[in-house]
Amino acid sequence: MILVTGGAGFIGGNFVLDWLANPHAEGVVNLDKLTYAGNLATLQSLSADDRHIFVQGDIGDYELVLSLLKKHAIRAVVNFAAESHVDRSIHGPGDFIQTNVLGTFNLLEAVRAFWSDLSEEGKQQFRFLHVSTDEVYGSLSATDPAFSETNPYEPNSPYSASKAASDHLVRAWHHTYGLPVLTTNCSNNYGPYHFPEKLIPLVILNALAGKPLPIYGDGQQIRDWLYVKDHCSAIRRVLEAGKLGETYNVGGWNEKPNLDVVHTICSILDSLRPKADGTSYATQITYVKDRPGHDRRYAIDATKLERELGWKPAETFETGIQKTVQWYLDNQEWTEGVLSGSYRDWVKKQYS
Ligand code: NAD
Ligand code: TYD
Repeated sequence: MILVTGGAGFIGGNFVLDWLANPHAEGVVNLDKLTYAGNLATLQSLSADDRHIFVQGDIGDYELVLSLLKKHAIRAVVNFAAESHVDRSIHGPGDFIQTNVLGTFNLLEAVRAFWSDLSEEGKQQFRFLHVSTDEVYGSLSATDPAFSETNPYEPNSPYSASKAASDHLVRAWHHTYGLPVLTTNCSNNYGPYHFPEKLIPLVILNALAGKPLPIYGDGQQIRDWLYVKDHCSAIRRVLEAGKLGETYNVGGWNEKPNLDVVHTICSILDSLRPKADGTSYATQITYVKDRPGHDRRYAIDATKLERELGWKPAETFETGIQKTVQWYLDNQEWTEGVLSGSYRDWVKKQYS
């Protein structure tokens, strides 16, 4: 079996669903703390699949992790578990240090204890894949080349600093203890089951609810966008064939200013779900105060992953965003479940 951490979150949930869609795949032990971002409704279609074992718990719980590794004879760990939202990290960095830094440390220690006791063959076959972000590289100017794996780390937010710290721990556990690790640094994901605190789902749901579409600052900040299923296929490929100790950048070759992303969503909604009064959803765009320390541009050079492992994204931004908007229109039950009291508290704190 494999151990997936954070598999009730956005990317981890998509990963588990895609992994188990293959009838020949190994089973998944899914360890998730079920913070505000974890949602078992994402995994509902697996309720009758005995290849999926869900365990509510913390990656920082050394004893729990070690017992799961032993009990299920785990052969690979894919670590998605993290606090993941930049704006929340600005309001309260403590949880980010706790999970992303200390949690990863405890997870690595439990994995190291388990791995050290394996046979020589078991040791060689074992993998620890750490899922990270392009935000560790800092911010680019309009003319800088895209981030490659050799860029220095220059994290600017509490979120990216905590992820950078976890990447360094993973690297050190390979160099010092020989733990067979792989790291992926990916750009902004979007797609089904995305929690609506992040730009794309927030804009889709606010648009449909007739609420303002908040643009931070001038809306000209650039992100590279990757459809979540493409991120999942990249992780599967790196897990299967990545070189131990290496890092792989994952990106969609889709750099877009935020304002363009929001206009694209509005025009898709204008055609799929026209407003009764005949106006465009774009009339709901509202400029709000900028995020402190807001990184101007991220761009990913994913040529290493293509050259060495033959991975390329299947979706363009245009095809992926169309599917995403359609998914939110078709799955209002999932989103209604997410828009709970704690979510409303967050929106009030962030946007009032
Ligand atoms: P998410 O916030 O949607 O999900 C995180 C999941 O981790 C949740 O289910 C949560 O309950 C769980 N979790 C949090 N703390 C935990 C703990 N201490 N122990 C166990 N589980 C815990 O995040 P996401 O967007 O799915 O991101 C997953 C990973 O991918 C993160 O490591 C993130 O840094 C990385 N990443 C995200 C993006 C993106 O665009 N979303 C891009 C690149 C990399
Ligand atoms: P986000 O989805 O939070 O991802 P990240 O900060 O990890 O890149 O934000 C994507 C971009 O959209 C980022 O530049 C901030 C901006 N943004 C807004 O303009 N308005 C919003 O309400 C949100 C949530 C984000």
